[in-house]
Amino acid sequence: MISQNSIQQIQSQIDIIDIIGSFIKLKKRGANYLGNCPFHHEKTPSFTVSPSKEIYKCFGCGKSGNAIGFVMDHEKYSYVEALRWLANKYNIELEETETSPEFKAIQLTSDSLFIINNFAKDFFSNALLNTEEGTDIALSYLKERGFNSQTIEKFQLGYNPSTKDAFTKAAIEGQYNKDLLIKTGLVVSRDEKLMDNYRSRIIFPIHNQSGKILGFGARIIKSNDKAPKYINTPENEIYIKSKILYGSYFARTAIDKADECLLVEGYTDVVSLHQAGIENVVASGGTSLTIDQLRLIKKYTKNLTIIYDGDSAGIKAALRGLDLALEEGLDVKLVLIPDKEDPDSYVNKIGAAEFIDFVKTEKKDFILFQLEIALKDAGNDSSKKSAIINQIAETISKINKTEDFTKRQDYIKKVSELLKVEESGFNALVNKVIREKINKEEFKNTKPNIDFSETDNFQQPEIEISDLLTKDELHEQALVRSLLEFGMKDWDDKQKVADYFFNYYDELEDLIDNKKLVTIINLYRTLYREDEEPTVKNFLYNEDKELNELIIKIMDVQSEISPKWKEHYEGHIPTREELYKEEVLSTMNYLQLRKIKRLILENQEEMQRTADSNEQMICMQTHQHLKKLESEITKKIGTVIYK
Ligand code: UTP
Ligand code: MN
Repeated sequence: MISQNSIQQIQSQIDIIDIIGSFIKLKKRGANYLGNCPFHHEKTPSFTVSPSKEIYKCFGCGKSGNAIGFVMDHEKYSYVEALRWLANKYNIELEETETSPEFKAIQLTSDSLFIINNFAKDFFSNALLNTEEGTDIALSYLKERGFNSQTIEKFQLGYNPSTKDAFTKAAIEGQYNKDLLIKTGLVVSRDEKLMDNYRSRIIFPIHNQSGKILGFGARIIKSNDKAPKYINTPENEIYIKSKILYGSYFARTAIDKADECLLVEGYTDVVSLHQAGIENVVASGGTSLTIDQLRLIKKYTKNLTIIYDGDSAGIKAALRGLDLALEEGLDVKLVLIPDKEDPDSYVNKIGAAEFIDFVKTEKKDFILFQLEIALKDAGNDSSKKSAIINQIAETISKINKTEDFTKRQDYIKKVSELLKVEESGFNALVNKVIREKINKEEFKNTKPNIDFSETDNFQQPEIEISDLLTKDELHEQALVRSLLEFGMKDWDDKQKVADYFFNYYDELEDLIDNKKLVTIINLYRTLYREDEEPTVKNFLYNEDKELNELIIKIMDVQSEISPKWKEHYEGHIPTREELYKEEVLSTMNYLQLRKIKRLILENQEEMQRTADSNEQMICMQTHQHLKKLESEITKKIGTVIYK
């Protein structure tokens, strides 16, 4: 755990323009900065960053957040990873707080494994480039295969010499712990002696998302029936096979940009395609895709294109992962490489431009491809054919997210054509599978208002939460917004806005329905009473995530005012800044009004309850009085600025 102290230090140093500016190009526009949103495609910039409030908002896609949130979203980091990244950027030494002994032990081991792997990477790289054996045997092999020096350097390829224990010796000399060396898989123990595990092999380091080395793939140079082609790192604290995608460190920005991830089988496929300028590519290692790998891909893109050679076992493995991919909402396409080639050999054969073209034209829909293969296989066998129909209905039923509804209907149409069956009948079959599934396992916790009845061709509209807010809620938010933004401004020569606000607040507190907003106001008051000057920033990095998001949501980041508007006003448009007193008054008056409305109701109830004519008389007078107040305040409120 990172200490609170360090977190605060990071927060105090955060410069949101500097941080976001290191990922996207920002231009100053008035008080804000503007750029193209990295979270959706756009040609005219609507991504706005406010340095004073330390938040960003995109007026195109609605994404918003603080600086830490941006790093998390953009780099797909966890909170802690984002903090580490920021600490690194600002040269802040992180203090770690006490954690459980088990966790600490794992942490310690992990750190050591990373250190050993890094040492090994340097050792192997040196052996490849700077020793006679390395250049003669390994480097020449790599060059012959077409890998250039730049590529070899970028992927940090290396060589483990043929001597029994060249690496082991160096590691022991370097005082690395024997048990940990064995854990990395670099060293094995034979007859109580330690020796190198990857002797005479080319070394492919495998990097995590931040470029640290998790483990290695070690390829034999001259194929040999007795030895496996590749030896891989055994599972340990940092090498968790089901989570590894080779090349993801080098591919992430390219995947983001292309909005597509190419998946190949092997290390050499990734490296070769990179060298050819096709960088949005990762490798699975030829096994079926795991849910963790799919989620890793989905962080970057929904579009997965599998590029395998036609007769590889990998296709079958990938097919096994297909249902999982569909459930994750990925769009899966397939490209088959012809004639016993693989992506590595094929790109070397036909060149980068043609390869890109080939991928574009040969890209097939994976579900339809699967169906075509199965249908060819079944021929005229009608029992096989009906099994296929059931199977494909099952597959399509996995496309089950509400937002994927159109996609599912599209498949139902295409598949019906291929199967030569009635579309409505096939649609009914798919719906039946879905219904059965829901009844079976998910009934209790699925959203009840999604109806999958056969004739029901509806699409759940996407409703923005903010569209659903009532006027009351918007006013409550406006009240808190004006306190946060203008609280430290002068109300008059004696008091600040906050003083004025808190004079009335006690009687208004109960009128605010959203208790999170009350929490924010109370936090503000506490800070203020402690003689601080609360600002939006005091609340931006609150531990309470919900509270955090609420604040970002209610804060106003002015978007560019359109030139038409400016024309219309012929010059000066008053800003919220200038009208702050009006805004504060207006939002407070609104609460007052709410209070009066409640009093009127209570008074009416009282009037109905009592039989005493005297009391009724009093109630009548109260009513008139309250009504008068109501109309006065209503007049005062005028136009309230809220969003
Ligand atoms: P391939 O046999 O296709 O190897 O295995 P490759 O990557 O194309 O290598 P070259 O081009 O022949 O040099 C595909 C992937 O399957 C895993 C590796 O991740 C490999 O990159 N594999 C293969 C193993 O883990 N062990 C093996 O013995 C073979
Ligand atoms: Mn190959």
